[in-house]
Amino acid sequence: MNFPKSRPRRLRSSETIRRMVRETKISVNDFIYPVFLKYGRGIKQEIPSMPGVFHFSTDRLDQEIEEIVNLRIPAVILFGIPEYKNEKASGAYDPHGIVQEGIRKIKNLAPELLVITDVCLCEYTNHGHCGEVKSNKILNDSSLELISKTALSHAIAGADMVAPSDMMDGRVGAIRSILDENSFSHIPIMSYSVKYASGFYGPFREAADSAPKFGDRNTYQMDHCNTREAFKEVKMDIAEGADIIMVKPALAYLDIINQVRKIVDVPVAAYNVSGEFSMIKAASRMGWIDERSVAMETLNSIKRAGADIIITYFAKDAARWLK
Ligand code: PBG
Repeated sequence: MNFPKSRPRRLRSSETIRRMVRETKISVNDFIYPVFLKYGRGIKQEIPSMPGVFHFSTDRLDQEIEEIVNLRIPAVILFGIPEYKNEKASGAYDPHGIVQEGIRKIKNLAPELLVITDVCLCEYTNHGHCGEVKSNKILNDSSLELISKTALSHAIAGADMVAPSDMMDGRVGAIRSILDENSFSHIPIMSYSVKYASGFYGPFREAADSAPKFGDRNTYQMDHCNTREAFKEVKMDIAEGADIIMVKPALAYLDIINQVRKIVDVPVAAYNVSGEFSMIKAASRMGWIDERSVAMETLNSIKRAGADIIITYFAKDAARWLK
């Protein structure tokens, strides 16, 4: 089957035929849109490094939620910038904490919109780490208690799904147990199973005020040089009860998404993170790339690699472009 008998260009000759033979199809159903909630009132504040993404106080959410629902985006994932931070991250599991209030507000505005919560402590601890700290060490097992308490308080407030992003060992099992013991056995867990220690989280940490005050996250998040370790994390999380597993970031880890997809039979989510978004925004603002084509190429590549679900700050734009 060589030239001139075979001519691959035949199937590229028009948009109509390209549409027919297209192997990867992305739709709005694939997207989860991140929403940043901030304690206070009357706040709608653009995040400087993430153009088009805002901090909202819960009283200003109405329009944003309406827009998300009208675009038919199925789900949001909530992050909170709380009123206070302390050693025990108690703002994370405060029944009237920022995320808990946000969940109630959103479920009230749009009962059918799926509300997923990021379960982590880094926005709530005074040191910015994702677990409890003693003598500059990030503790594992005592952190599990705080993390699972946080997940339970989200479920009580009405969250439809919880998504632990802390990378402590055993967190999925701990969350599954506490949810089951409290009549929340129907609430799924989407685990940030394969979360690399990444420079691509820069804009998010500024937005969520969650950068560690000392050291880094290298003792809990994964080394970006590792692949086999990703398989181990994924298998552990599924055994502990994860319903959906996630690879994060997405773009520099398409190989990981692709390989993980082949070894699991649960849905695979990929997080197209803040730095990946900001790079495209910045370059397009400089006039160096075309935002729409590069963003869609990026989202399609994540899907093509094997992701079933994409968490992306482009969700609203892409939903419009796909219309
Ligand atoms: C919390 C968390 C982070 C992100 C999602 N959840 C930051 C981090 O681990 O430092 C990053 C999301 C993004 O960059 O878009 N642990």
